[in-house]
Amino acid sequence: MARKLSVGAVGGLLGVTASSLLLMKTKNETVWEKVTMPLIRLLDAEVAHRLSVILASRGLVPSFPTSAADKEVLKTKVFGLDFDSPVGLAAGFDKNAECVDGMLKMGFDFVEVGSITPEPQEGNAKPRVFRLIEDEAVINRYGFNSFGMDTAYSNLTKRRNKPGIVSINLGKNKTNENAVDDYVKGVLKLGELANILVINVSSPNTPGLRKMQGRQQLAELIEKVLEAKKTLSNKPPLLVKVAPDLTIEDKKDIAAVVTNAKTRVDGLIVTNTTITRPESLQAVDKTQKGGLSGKPLKELSTQCIKDMFDLTEGNIPIIGVGGISTGEDAYEKICSGASLIQLYSSLSTHGPPVVGKIKRELAELLRDDGFESVADAVGCDVIPFGCPGTPTSKEQMHQINFVEAPK
Ligand SMILES: Cc1cc2nc3c(=O)[nH]c(=O)nc-3n(C[C@H](O)[C@H](O)[C@H](O)COP(=O)(O)O)c2cc1C
Repeated sequence: MARKLSVGAVGGLLGVTASSLLLMKTKNETVWEKVTMPLIRLLDAEVAHRLSVILASRGLVPSFPTSAADKEVLKTKVFGLDFDSPVGLAAGFDKNAECVDGMLKMGFDFVEVGSITPEPQEGNAKPRVFRLIEDEAVINRYGFNSFGMDTAYSNLTKRRNKPGIVSINLGKNKTNENAVDDYVKGVLKLGELANILVINVSSPNTPGLRKMQGRQQLAELIEKVLEAKKTLSNKPPLLVKVAPDLTIEDKKDIAAVVTNAKTRVDGLIVTNTTITRPESLQAVDKTQKGGLSGKPLKELSTQCIKDMFDLTEGNIPIIGVGGISTGEDAYEKICSGASLIQLYSSLSTHGPPVVGKIKRELAELLRDDGFESVADAVGCDVIPFGCPGTPTSKEQMHQINFVEAPK
């Protein structure tokens, strides 16, 4: 009897495991929306996140590669790098560079890892990540939980010769007063493994971090980071990630710094999560402390992209991120001035099929509007063609967006 029970229990467990894996690997959008995601939501949000990273690190993800036909219109060149599509994974999902290849397999055409801090640190107390289901949003106050740069270095070294564009997002340790030092350490340790380097000065969950976006602090930080970058043989493009909660004066200051010859960067990531809480929020967890992302962030981040594109006169390529869950959202970001786009929250709301859907819909929208490439559409809603200081033609715009990597 006992033997029968244990055989039954093992059989049952195997059955549940097999069907769970099938549910995680299916490509069917309806199955994900109606079955897999509701099941995942039975788990605590952070547990579900950790499980997703583990599965992705073993390649147990459905794959939505960019189709050859869509690649024709979606392929793009930014920072001198060739992207099959402009759709990338935003920072925060793969904080320790554990599942880059899994996320590339899922269909992202570049993956940003991090934020990575020099020393390992726990981050804030749990619970620290909340799903706002009704709002298609997330609030997190992880506070840079990181295994530290040595672990990220070892993970990235193991996959060094594999294809795929990897962006490395650097953060600072909570207890280190000298933030500049931490970013420099990150550049020196991880820079050689990066196709793109990002300095994140905009997470709301590390006290004082966002002050680094101030004119003088930002200029000092970039100067030191650029000096450190000179020692690297590969010289990856350097990007700064900014918050959506900036005043127009803050934005002007940032634009002035990043376009100044001495402190010029290669790109901006616009935006991180917001500390604001729109009136429209419905979920009970809307008052949780932390950064809000997903749908309610969309407009704020799009406006910020428009402002930064305008203030930098389209001279600094922008990665647009915040509330993208459809091809139309991605297109809106591109027309507002983004050369590439990223997402995170919609992946946790809708599951992996959202990656394939965004690419498919974006390709269709571009074609319908007569654009031959993503680059041709960048900033088309913002730039009045022919105005002084702005491109006079789509061709000129195309050239602007084909920015070569720095030598
Ligand atoms: C759970 C979570 C953790 C995040 N962690 C980081 C991080 O470590 N570094 C960072 O630069 N951005 C982080 N972000 C911000 C995202 O990269 C992105 O900028 C933001 O969520 C807006 O995009 P979305 O609306 O598509 O999620 C995090 C976002 C979420 C939801």
